[in-house]
Amino acid sequence: MQIERLTQATATACLGDLIDLLEDAVASGASIGFLPPLAPGEAEEYWRGVIDALASNHRVLLIARDGASIAGTVQLDYAVRRNASHRAEVMKLMVHQSARRRGIGQALMEEAARIARHDGRTLLVLDTRAGDPSERLYQRLGYQTAGTIPGYARSASGELHSTVILYRHLL
Ligand SMILES: CC(C)(COP(=O)(O)OP(=O)(O)OC[C@H]1O[C@@H](n2cnc3c(N)ncnc32)[C@H](O)[C@@H]1OP(=O)(O)O)[C@@H](O)C(=O)NCCC(=O)NCCS
Repeated sequence: MQIERLTQATATACLGDLIDLLEDAVASGASIGFLPPLAPGEAEEYWRGVIDALASNHRVLLIARDGASIAGTVQLDYAVRRNASHRAEVMKLMVHQSARRRGIGQALMEEAARIARHDGRTLLVLDTRAGDPSERLYQRLGYQTAGTIPGYARSASGELHSTVILYRHLL
């Protein structure tokens, strides 16, 4: 398994795999901003927006390559305000259901942190649905809980769930 940083060109070449990954994550019930079933073209439209964002140097897109397929992905979004030039948001961590619990999510997060630190971003922030496996993963990686917002995001059942805001200072 290798972690790779994608450019616009390499991300475009991987578009099909990225779409599969998002569809798989949404179908698994993940809380990543989408509800199942995805509309036709919804996943592609999302990834094309990410690829557009890669034109700036404010977005980082990483994938975990497992043989011929892509097993996982994560993004960094660098804050652009002058008072926030030390800060980045970690977004859309997802690992294909067939590849979970093999350390891929952790490896993606560690490489994202390494790149952020290299780029002078020393504060990482993110949010996740309370009680999800991701919350445990982030805590294990040293993220601190800033707080919880009840009723923040809806799941496929219509139920509203709490979201946890976490942060990590990179030393
Ligand atoms: C969250 C997610 C990315 C984890 O990916 P992963 O590759 O399975 O995670 P790892 O194998 O690196 O797990 C690292 C640690 O995280 C914790 N963890 C991961 N999955 C867990 C689970 N299902 N239950 C409990 N702890 C879990 C464990 O501490 C684990 O270490 P261990 O396996 O030694 O116990 C994956 O479950 C996923 O894609 N979920 C759907 C998308 C999502 O919710 N993304 C988060 C958006 S904020």
